[in-house]
Amino acid sequence: MTLDELKTACGSCQKCPLGATRTNLVFGTGNPNAVLMFVGEAPGESEDLSGTPFVGRAGKLLDKYLEYVEIPREDVYITNILKCRPPKNRDPEEGEQDQCMDYLRQQVKLIRPKMIVCLGRISAMRLIKPDYKITKEHGIWVQKGAFEMTAVYHPSLLLRGNPTYKEQMLTDMKAVAEKYRMYKQNQ
Ligand code: URA
Repeated sequence: MTLDELKTACGSCQKCPLGATRTNLVFGTGNPNAVLMFVGEAPGESEDLSGTPFVGRAGKLLDKYLEYVEIPREDVYITNILKCRPPKNRDPEEGEQDQCMDYLRQQVKLIRPKMIVCLGRISAMRLIKPDYKITKEHGIWVQKGAFEMTAVYHPSLLLRGNPTYKEQMLTDMKAVAEKYRMYKQNQ
């Protein structure tokens, strides 16, 4: 199966109730051969309307961090744990995540990234470990099978303006960029 075929299959998904309320599927965008993959939480309103992940306020902030550390957005792959927007942007429910995880697993299998960076605690709790503590463990790398993983703060948390979190995010993103360049050199 190709990434496009997977997207088409995902587009008719009704495995959880969010399938009935989405405007658009938000499958993922970017380089299908990316060495670096970002995984957020779930689409918000702008993403639901456009069908593209991280295009709203949080997305614009993510773009700034990517620009600052000189990672071209079009060279990475960006997706979410959930492919459909939860009503009123509430946290994704466990059951919704369970239903949606297989799409992410298949995306990872097809893209075969070297690095996966979780954006925020929801993604880290699902992909790294259930008791992940983002304030303590952000920026720590773990090897998981064929790729390395870490988590950084979710950009929407950073929009609330905590300067300490912003500084830590910069440090973490610089480390992401350093590894990214190493893998790109060897690609
Ligand atoms: N927040 C997320 O976690 N994902 C998006 O795509 C947008 C906002």
